[in-house]
Amino acid sequence: MSEKAGKSVSEDRVLIFDTTLRDGEQSPGCSMNLSEKLSLARQLEKLGVDIIEAGFPIASVGDLESVKAISHAVREPVICALSRTSVGDVEHALEAILPAARPRIHVFIATSDIHLEHKLRMSREQVVEEVDRAVRQARQYVDDVEFSAEDATRSDWDYLVEVFDVAMSAGASTLNVPDTVGYTTPTEYNELISFLKQNVRLSEQAIFSLHCHNDLGLAVANSLAAIRAGARQVECTVNGIGERAGNTAMEEVVMALKTRPDTFQGVDTGIRTEEIWPTSRMLSSITGVSVQPNKAIVGENAFAHEAGIHQDGVLKNSLTYEIMTPKSIGRASNELVLGKHSGRHAFRERLDELGLSVTGDEFERAFRRFKDLADAKKTIFNEDLEVIVADSVLTTEERFSVGDISITSGTFGKPSATVEMQIDGEALKQTSLGVGPVDALFRAIAELTDTKSELIRYQVHAVTAGLDALGEVSVTVDEDGRRVIGHGAHEDVLVASAKAYVHAINKLEWHKGRRGRDEPRGI
Ligand code: KIV
Ligand code: ZN
Repeated sequence: MSEKAGKSVSEDRVLIFDTTLRDGEQSPGCSMNLSEKLSLARQLEKLGVDIIEAGFPIASVGDLESVKAISHAVREPVICALSRTSVGDVEHALEAILPAARPRIHVFIATSDIHLEHKLRMSREQVVEEVDRAVRQARQYVDDVEFSAEDATRSDWDYLVEVFDVAMSAGASTLNVPDTVGYTTPTEYNELISFLKQNVRLSEQAIFSLHCHNDLGLAVANSLAAIRAGARQVECTVNGIGERAGNTAMEEVVMALKTRPDTFQGVDTGIRTEEIWPTSRMLSSITGVSVQPNKAIVGENAFAHEAGIHQDGVLKNSLTYEIMTPKSIGRASNELVLGKHSGRHAFRERLDELGLSVTGDEFERAFRRFKDLADAKKTIFNEDLEVIVADSVLTTEERFSVGDISITSGTFGKPSATVEMQIDGEALKQTSLGVGPVDALFRAIAELTDTKSELIRYQVHAVTAGLDALGEVSVTVDEDGRRVIGHGAHEDVLVASAKAYVHAINKLEWHKGRRGRDEPRGI
């Protein structure tokens, strides 16, 4: 154990700093509304992350409000707000995290000559002054201050030492070394962290943090190399979402440390690994961005053995081809779980086993949805339950909801769709024709909601195998440059399509309701 910033930090414990709600949310199509952010933050708490970077409060009023709401609702992890070095930024960060049980302000400024010359137009001396002033300001408000040297991996190493010295003297306790543009390599990053640990004056009192982007596909390898050099905070995102090619994938680093304690000197995290799969699924259903099938740990095929020789080996002893079990990440086998005669109690127990517990209205919605599905579909799989719960948890703050729909399609005449909707509490109905059933359906919905949005992408996939599988639809729409993704699931893909489209339109409405209050203030 060593004393760092007044806290005892075990040398073999790596802190997980989750930035899904900040760096992750900045990636195209991954924007989330307030209730979605809150649901995810609660799930991150359940997962056991140490720090949640909840947003960038100066960026918009929406960001400020969501960081505030998360600070109120999520009490176990540290809640962190990002801030540039200006006085107003730091004040906004403080306002947002004030209600948190364990608040942190994360101040950053670029340190590479490229950024100083072309972006900040500041001298090295000016940057040093900014760091000193901003970290001191943040420390007047909170005890826990992190400082990041943006583009650290393309910065002059001696200058980095100078900047970090100043940040430490001003009261920072975490020093973050971002590979902002995904440029570094494992050996180089390992050497940089070692160099900083050796040369920064108060380094033994600091927690060195890594923050990697995946432009060269090296984010996880670089992160692990930094841990080997003594970094003890990993900045990462669920499913590796983030700017451009994404950030370090939380689940990959966590499972690498867990599976190879021999190579990583027994260093481990506090993550409850059985929550990895539910968290990954929740994020995908919120954003509508699915994980590539062969993605490590959380891809659909990550534990699928196709080759006969592999299947034979696994059946004889799973150790032959399995270095970790699906169960260890909370992924239950795809077994039949419940039928249409199952009651509330069995349903609740099964959700608990899957780590999908919901309460109150959300539980009632999920149970009703389960009963409907069980009537329509012979076998209900765990994946179906995940979709049902995600659907029930996320249907809040909605102005529009879909009621009954009826569709006629085929080659006799033009496809037509009749849709009933509740709009601001009023029941309305519309029939429209289209070139196909989905087109007719979407035209009717567009007419009823008066949406001006443009349909960008429409995707369908079957949640499980079987002809009666639940269909999951994702719809991307764009209105005035704001792009959102809606999702919907149902045993009838046309009903799923209607739900997905309306979900997306509701998201746009939510943003519109905040127009003027929620416009980016120029980061
Ligand atoms: O990539 C980066 O440099 C960042 C900083 C704000 C930490 O996201
Ligand atoms: Zn970043």
